[in-house]
Amino acid sequence: MLLHLMTWQEVESYLQTSTGVMMPIGSTEQHGPTGLIGTDAICAEAIAIAAGEIAGAVVGPTIGVGMAQHHMAFTGSMTLRPSTLVSVIADYVNSLARHGFERFYFINGHGGNISTVQTAFQEVYAQTSMDGGGDRPRVRCVSRNWYQRPRVQALAKKFYGGREGYHATPSEVAVTQYVHPDAIKDAELPELASPGGGFSFTDADDYRRRFPDGRMASDPSLARPEHGKELLELAAEDLAADYREYLKD
Ligand code: NI
Repeated sequence: MLLHLMTWQEVESYLQTSTGVMMPIGSTEQHGPTGLIGTDAICAEAIAIAAGEIAGAVVGPTIGVGMAQHHMAFTGSMTLRPSTLVSVIADYVNSLARHGFERFYFINGHGGNISTVQTAFQEVYAQTSMDGGGDRPRVRCVSRNWYQRPRVQALAKKFYGGREGYHATPSEVAVTQYVHPDAIKDAELPELASPGGGFSFTDADDYRRRFPDGRMASDPSLARPEHGKELLELAAEDLAADYREYLKD
């Protein structure tokens, strides 16, 4: 159930049965020569919609622009500052908490969001702590990175072995190919030289210097839409089961 496609009365009825909500969060940033700019948002949203169907959960609006400052030297990339993203997440959570939602389950598609998402949760808790609790619902937030679920990683390894890499990975590209078959891109991908200094980076110029075509040790030419279907369905099933456990606690 997408929040966007419900009426306010339907949301009210849902809250009689559950206070849980899934929140997809992604990014809008370069994904190498064959990956779509929206890859992280597309994956998080599609997986959240499928997981929400399995678990009977409301799925909130996707946060489509994330913390991607390090990709800004590539055309088309967008970012929120960490401080802006903290405010956006806290405002999303607090808006829905006002209506009685208590269990927030973020489905994240972008590594660069991880630390900021955790900071945003602390921002939400800090507000409740300083207000002395009161009538506010007991809000709890967790975030899961769909691509780091052990079963998903095992499937990605089966498909791509050591060519999965760390950014513009064949597994995330495969999911976008399945969701948007009309937007599949093709390009010659040269073998990547190993970057000096490993896989750390600082700002956008530093990232581009180390990873000139945007990829990090990945070979997205291996991506296939049928892999994407399997990865999406496995991630959705895994996250739906985890969400149900989360609601029990
Ligand atoms: Ni990505």
